[in-house]
Amino acid sequence: MKIAVVLGTRPEIIKMAPVIDEIERRNLDFTLIHTGQHYDHEMSDQFFIDLELPSPDHNIGAGSGSHGAMTAEMLRGIEDVLMREEPDIVMVQGDTNAVLAGALAAVKLHIPVGHVEAGLRSFDRTMPEEINRMVADACSKLYYVPTEESAINLLMEGADPEAVFVTGNTVVDACLRNIEIASKKSDILSEFQGDEKLVALTLHRAENVDNPERLRSIVEAILELEEFRIVFPVHPRTRKNLEKSGLYTRLLEAEHVTLKKPMGYLDFLLLLSNSFMVLTDSGGLQEEAITFNVPCLTLRYNTERPETVEAGGNILVGADKNRITTTARRLLEDPDFREGMMRAENPYGDGHASERILDETLRLHREGRLTMKP
Ligand code: UD1
Ligand code: UDP
Repeated sequence: MKIAVVLGTRPEIIKMAPVIDEIERRNLDFTLIHTGQHYDHEMSDQFFIDLELPSPDHNIGAGSGSHGAMTAEMLRGIEDVLMREEPDIVMVQGDTNAVLAGALAAVKLHIPVGHVEAGLRSFDRTMPEEINRMVADACSKLYYVPTEESAINLLMEGADPEAVFVTGNTVVDACLRNIEIASKKSDILSEFQGDEKLVALTLHRAENVDNPERLRSIVEAILELEEFRIVFPVHPRTRKNLEKSGLYTRLLEAEHVTLKKPMGYLDFLLLLSNSFMVLTDSGGLQEEAITFNVPCLTLRYNTERPETVEAGGNILVGADKNRITTTARRLLEDPDFREGMMRAENPYGDGHASERILDETLRLHREGRLTMKP
């Protein structure tokens, strides 16, 4: 049995790491394909170091560019590798262009696709990620879904119930395995005063940072929240747009804002788990915040992680300056409100998702069901 793992961006490296660990623990044959979508040291290599991952066997080098150009380059590169490697299954994760290209390249070669974190839906087709998820799911043979809710999304779209496995999300595996290591190895907290109310802020979603009004509104809210120490590791896409609009300098000058390069996983995990709250438009952070019982204010108007909102640990505040500042201040002024958010139960499982993913895949392989035959 040979497994090809395709990844290309920061969140895929983090969430596939526990799966790769599990593949290695079981001594299975595998090949690791990096699409090259993220290529800066701090967006890619740093995570291979922090998570002690093997170097990719193949790097397609398809970083940056338009969606069409990037996806086409990945498709061509992955197809070429798969034809040479002839794996029994291709595993992809999440909703980036790598998932779209990996799933499409594999299914056309009649190689079964296993989609980790399948079934998420924001029901917003203007998001590139929503299209990627839907196409990847349409190409998949096995669906490793994080929750019952994502299983229902797939069943409503006609997926074979015997191919849908509720495994939990591998992000919990990654958090639980690495938090202890982070607290030993990282000294990020020494940069801050003990009495500061730390806020982990991340921002990179196209609909926020490519939209000047929304970006400005979010930045105005950040500038106003002087009661907090806001730690902001800036994604390269966001940095470009902040610099273009003059907002980067304003953030740099704000005393309560600490701007950083994208942070390594261990530093970021320790920062996040010690934060008073999270402000983010990231997908993964909504999951990690609830895993560490940190209240999350999501800078979006919808989410493909509705479980976090239903559980009470996440509030959608959009890009609306007043909503952001009012909700953040309520967390400060109303301890019952904050404690209620902190009590939210984590819907993403027990940290053993990667074991279940491998158990189910190997079972289907043993039963001769890992095939594209109808
Ligand atoms: C991508 C994913 C998004 C995911 C995010 C994780 C898609 C469509 N988007 O968004 O779903 O949440 O990764 O972080 O797949 N850049 C660099 N260095 C890098 C990477 C990017 O400078 O290492 C800059 C380039 O100018 C690039 C821009 O960031 O054009 C955007 O990068 P891209 O990979 O297209 O999208 P992300 O915003 O990173
Ligand atoms: N992350 C990190 N350093 C940072 C910001 C984020 O290690 O400076 C991690 C974070 O813990 C999470 C993942 O990156 O696991 C989320 O990635 P991102 O927000 O880029 O993508 P998304 O989850 O939105 O697809």
